[in-house]
Amino acid sequence: MTLPYVTLSCAMSLDGYLDGESPQRLIMSNAEDFDRVDQLRADSDAIMVGASTVRRDDPRLLVRSEDRRQKRVSEGRSASPVKVTVTGSGDLPAGSCFFKVGDVEKIVYCPRATAARLAGALGGTATVVALGDPVTMRDIAEDLAARGVRRLMVEGGGRMHTQFLREDLADELQLVIAPFFVGDPRAPRFVGEGAFPWTATRRARLAETRQIGDVVLLRYALSERAVHGGASTEPETVVAAADRRGADHGSTT
Ligand SMILES: NC(=O)c1ccc[n+]([C@@H]2O[C@H](COP(=O)([O-])OP(=O)(O)OC[C@H]3O[C@@H](n4cnc5c(N)ncnc54)[C@H](OP(=O)(O)O)[C@@H]3O)[C@@H](O)[C@H]2O)c1
Repeated sequence: MTLPYVTLSCAMSLDGYLDGESPQRLIMSNAEDFDRVDQLRADSDAIMVGASTVRRDDPRLLVRSEDRRQKRVSEGRSASPVKVTVTGSGDLPAGSCFFKVGDVEKIVYCPRATAARLAGALGGTATVVALGDPVTMRDIAEDLAARGVRRLMVEGGGRMHTQFLREDLADELQLVIAPFFVGDPRAPRFVGEGAFPWTATRRARLAETRQIGDVVLLRYALSERAVHGGASTEPETVVAAADRRGADHGSTT
């Protein structure tokens, strides 16, 4: 089975945090970069976030641009990608935008023991898929592949990124660095602890750098198919971006 081409996407502070600790969501990026992320969403078959992000940020997870939505529909796709999340506790607010907004399929993965209660609480607004305990990102990727998902965008939070990286399931990392510090150890980090496949002796391949206003995008090719463009599933292979690197480097786009 060919697993989905997985792109991890997030913005972090200079000291590696995804957010602050205060109740208000910390805006890391800028309008131009949000538009880039919107294109990445439009190029994806599914968008995934962790349950904490659903609870804390209440994101819509829809393609914002009307042109991009119309283009997807003209291609016979839903206006926005399938929404995906995962929970162990089953604590997902049925009234959240994840479930209430957007005429797209919503899928929730959870351990078997949680599935019946969660399905009852969500009342048919989402497809609840019971997997093993613990749920692994590989199980999720395999299930999504069986559902026809070829491109999966993972938008956080840190526990999502950590697991996809640790399980070596990420093809590409699109990491935006915001020009400020958070400095609060209670805040969520881009990744937690773990044995990551990329170390000082097995270094990730930097495929592109791009200045976007006051932030910078770092694009890493993490899989062979990203490096060599071997999969036909990528909307644009990282190797192609690497070839353009000279033109893009340091320019404000
Ligand atoms: N800057 C950015 O680009 C960006 C993007 C997204 C999010 N964020 C921020 O990131 C923060 C959230 O990140 P986070 O790391 O705390 O949480 P997260 O990754 O969003 O979600 C973690 C939760 O997902 C569920 N989960 C994860 N792995 C699981 C597994 N293998 N099996 C079952 N359930 C699993 C659990 O939910 P249960 O607790 O329900 O069991 C877990 O508590 C928020 O502050 C948000 O604002 C920032």
